[in-house]
Amino acid sequence: MNIPFRMDAKFCSFFNYSKTFVAILLAILLSVPTLVSAQDSTAAAGAAAPAGGGDAAKGESIFKNNCAQCHAPTDERVVGPGLKGASSRHDFAWLTKWVRNSSAVIASGDPYAVKIYNEYSKAQMTSFPNLSDDDIKAIFAYVDKAGAAPAAAAAGAAGAPAAAAGDAKGSGPSDLFVIVLVALVVVMVLVLGVLLVIVSLLSKAVKGGGAETEEAAGEGFGSILKKLTVDPAIRSATLWIFVLLVLKSTLDGAFNVGVQQGYAPKQPISFSHKLHAGEYKIDCNYCHTGVNRGKSAHIPSANICMNCHGVIKKESPEIQKIYTSIENNQPIEWVRVHNLPDLAYFNHAQHVNVGGLECQNCHGEVEKMEVIQQRSSLTMGWCIDCHRKTEVNTKDNQYYDKLVQLHASESKEALKVADIGGLECSKCHY
Ligand code: HEC
Ligand code: HEC
Ligand code: HEC
Ligand code: HEC
Ligand code: HEC
Ligand code: HEC
Repeated sequence: MNIPFRMDAKFCSFFNYSKTFVAILLAILLSVPTLVSAQDSTAAAGAAAPAGGGDAAKGESIFKNNCAQCHAPTDERVVGPGLKGASSRHDFAWLTKWVRNSSAVIASGDPYAVKIYNEYSKAQMTSFPNLSDDDIKAIFAYVDKAGAAPAAAAAGAAGAPAAAAGDAKGSGPSDLFVIVLVALVVVMVLVLGVLLVIVSLLSKAVKGGGAETEEAAGEGFGSILKKLTVDPAIRSATLWIFVLLVLKSTLDGAFNVGVQQGYAPKQPISFSHKLHAGEYKIDCNYCHTGVNRGKSAHIPSANICMNCHGVIKKESPEIQKIYTSIENNQPIEWVRVHNLPDLAYFNHAQHVNVGGLECQNCHGEVEKMEVIQQRSSLTMGWCIDCHRKTEVNTKDNQYYDKLVQLHASESKEALKVADIGGLECSKCHY
């Protein structure tokens, strides 16, 4: 690139302060996304705040793993009632009995249990016979703590959707950056334009020879403006700004290639894996029922959503779309993300059930995705590469016993997928 810097005295003196200027500008530009993500992380820290020490911390993790899909630690109703104040509504003996086996308590005719059971349309709470007294104490220590600090509790309860909403924008920081960038450029162009117009008007007026006072004033002002536009310092400053902005956006783009790479179409319902699989830890199998059994992982039908959304967040417009789909007997038209060409054969059960691979090996951290995204290239090279590198999971699999023996007599290396035919064309091509 040929940047027309004038290496005269003026420019050199400009250059001295332009270094500071450039440094400041760089700092501002680079800090824009950082500032934004800093906000995010404080929000996250706020949400995590109710943790605290001792039992409550242990309780929080037990709660999140077992209860959070149906209960909030606040007043808020999820599938079951908000648990705030539950420890004062009931004595500890009742709570342990209830948590270990709520249907027994209901069957015993306990009036409160029967009432609440009916109130929640006879929804059956899961039994947790394995939770110890200490575990249950810890859960309610956490619930009390989270419910007692209203701000923190609100952050805990609202944190999930809020954080989700924040991330829904996905590339939030860089979106903001683009806006700032565009605004800056627009402002600069406007200022330049106005300056040019003023200069040309003024110089016309000066040449035309107006009244003396006007002329004097005009000349002073006009020449300053003129100087400004001609001044190499201003010019190179403008240039620097442009160069830096371009550099910054290119860098941003380059950094994003690894992270944002992949197809992530907008889906008809803003279903979030981050919320369901991440926050509420719903097992992938619960919805993708085919992964252990067959070729296709399956996309869940609306009925599976209704297991929970028959009661949760019924009023949400996004959830209403599920209802509409069921009423009209029209399946939800999810946009397919991963799609191999017809010539290739891929089987989930082979990889997940037999191979013992995690979904994340191929799909990335789905539990952190607000919108599903294709993280792997899904090319033939990608399949082959993994088959060359990955050892076959032969443990507890008698089918492989003979093969392992045979292989061991021929080679010192561990049995790779490539050795069992993972590179044969016909295994992957019809
Ligand atoms: C599958 C959903 C589900 C899960 C998981 C669940 N609950 Fe419940 N819970 C309910 C429902 C629904 C009710 C309302 C009573 C009913 O319908 O049986 C309830 C009621 C309660 C009550 C009585 C509330 C009150 O206000 O008196 C307590 C206490 C409770 N659950 C604690 C827990 C704890 C602790 C856990 C985790 C170890 C847990 N629940 C897990 C669904 C669930
Ligand atoms: C509550 C139900 C539910 C759970 C739990 C769930 N998913 Fe999904 N998943 C869906 C739905 C609905 C879609 C289709 C809509 C979409 O793409 O967001 C989907 C889509 C996907 C896709 C993309 C499918 C395509 O079109 O290529 C992948 C990959 C995926 N899920 C993986 C996972 C993994 C891995 C987990 C566990 C960490 C998981 N899912 C947990 C409901 C679920
Ligand atoms: C095991 C229970 C469960 C299943 C199954 C489930 N969800 Fe959810 N879903 C939840 C919970 C819990 C929330 C959070 C509710 C809240 O924010 O109060 C939620 C929230 C949502 C939201 C956000 C609603 C809003 O406006 O905030 C959408 C959209 C959603 N689910 C769609 C789906 C779809 C589509 C399916 C079926 C593929 C599905 N869910 C299956 C438990 C479930
Ligand atoms: C070895 C890599 C690999 C693993 C492990 C894997 N997947 Fe997949 N997944 C794929 C490929 C490849 C496709 C595209 C399949 C096609 O187009 O035929 C796919 C497609 C999907 C789809 C879209 C629907 C379909 O079946 O075509 C879903 C949903 C899905 N995977 C979920 C999961 C879940 C959940 C797990 C973990 C239990 C998982 N996958 C594990 C590679 C993998
Ligand atoms: C993350 C690693 C990984 C990736 C990526 C992967 N595979 Fe595999 N694949 C395995 C493992 C491990 C096995 C062995 C499973 C077993 O024990 O049978 C396997 C087995 C297979 C088999 C059976 C081989 C045989 O001889 O029994 C086929 C077919 C296959 N993969 C196809 C594919 C295709 C097609 C793709 C790409 C779309 C792919 N795989 C991507 C790890 C992978
Ligand atoms: C581990 C699985 C696997 C094996 C083994 C494999 N392929 Fe493929 N192959 C694929 C997948 C998956 C694709 C599709 C990739 C894509 O769309 O980019 C593909 C694509 C192709 C294509 C390109 C088709 C097109 O439209 O671009 C050809 C040709 C091909 N394979 C030939 C072969 C031959 C020949 C062999 C044996 C030497 C072989 N493959 C072995 C998985 C495999």
